Amino acid sequence: MTPQRRKVRVQTFLEKKQAGEKIVAVTAYDYPTALLVDEAGVDMVLVGDSVGNVVLGYDSTLPVTMEEMRHHVRAVRRGVKTALLVADMPFLSYQSSVAQAIENAGLFLKDGAEAVKLEGGTPPIVQVVRALVDVGIPVVGHLGFTPQWIHQFGGVRVRGRRSEEAKRLVDMALALQDAGCFAIVLELVPEELAAIVTEKLSIPTIGIGAGPHCDGQILVLHDLIGMLPGWSPRHAKRYAEVGELIRHAVETYAQEVREGKFPTPEQTTKMPPEELERLKQLMQKS
Ligand code: KIV
Repeated sequence: MTPQRRKVRVQTFLEKKQAGEKIVAVTAYDYPTALLVDEAGVDMVLVGDSVGNVVLGYDSTLPVTMEEMRHHVRAVRRGVKTALLVADMPFLSYQSSVAQAIENAGLFLKDGAEAVKLEGGTPPIVQVVRALVDVGIPVVGHLGFTPQWIHQFGGVRVRGRRSEEAKRLVDMALALQDAGCFAIVLELVPEELAAIVTEKLSIPTIGIGAGPHCDGQILVLHDLIGMLPGWSPRHAKRYAEVGELIRHAVETYAQEVREGKFPTPEQTTKMPPEELERLKQLMQKS
C-alpha cells in the first residue's frame, strides 16, 4: 500500500526550503487532471490564468475573468486531496483597489483554494499583498516575466538580464516577502538572478524558465504532458505526447465506427429473449 502523504500546507513551503527539499508545482484546470497530478505527488497545484491560453484558446491571459477562474478552481478543488491548491488572480481582479482584491481573493477561498497568486512587485501590488495577508489570505508572489504585464513589457521577454532591472527585481522580491508572501514564482529570469533571489529570501522561490537554483519548479501541465501540437516554450520539457495519443485514439475510434467494428457485443446490451418476444407481440397489437 502506498504510504499516506501528509497534507501540504502553507507552512510546509518554509519547512521544505529550510530542509533543502525541492518544491514541485504544476498547473491544473479540471477535475481529472487535478486527481492525476495530486496522485503523482506534487506539492502545489496552481489553477493558473494560463487556462486562458491552454484551455480556452485566448492568445493571452488578459481576457480571463473571475467567473472563468472560479469555475476551474471549483473543479480542481474536487480532485486535489493532498497538494496545496493555489488560485491565480486574473487581470483586473486585484489591481483596482485593496477592497476589490480582498473580495475576489476571498471568493477563491470560499471555492476551496488555500492561497492566491498575483503578479508584480510594484508598490500598489505590495500594498494589496499586505492587505490580503493581514486578513488571513495566503499569497504567492510572481515576478520576472509576468504575463498580465505583456504590453508593458513589449512582449514575452526574459526579465532582469541587465543589472539595474535585476536589482529592481531583487528589491521587489524582498518587498513581497516583507508584505507576507509565503513563496514567489520567478518566471523567465536568468539563472544567476534566480540564484541571488533564492539565496536572499527566507521564503521559497518557485521557478519557471528561471534555471535550476530556485527552491522549486512549476510547469504548465499542458506543456509538460505535450497536450498541444507543435510549439512549446523553451523552458518547458515535454515529458509525454498526450495530444498525439488523444488524436490517435480518436482517429482509431472514427475508423472503427465507419467500418462497423465499434461497438462490439462487449459494449452492447441485449434484451432478455422473453422480453423481446413480448415486445414483438405488443408491436403487432398496436
Ligand atoms: O498562469 C500560470 O500558469 C502561471 C504559471 C506559469 C506560474 O502563472
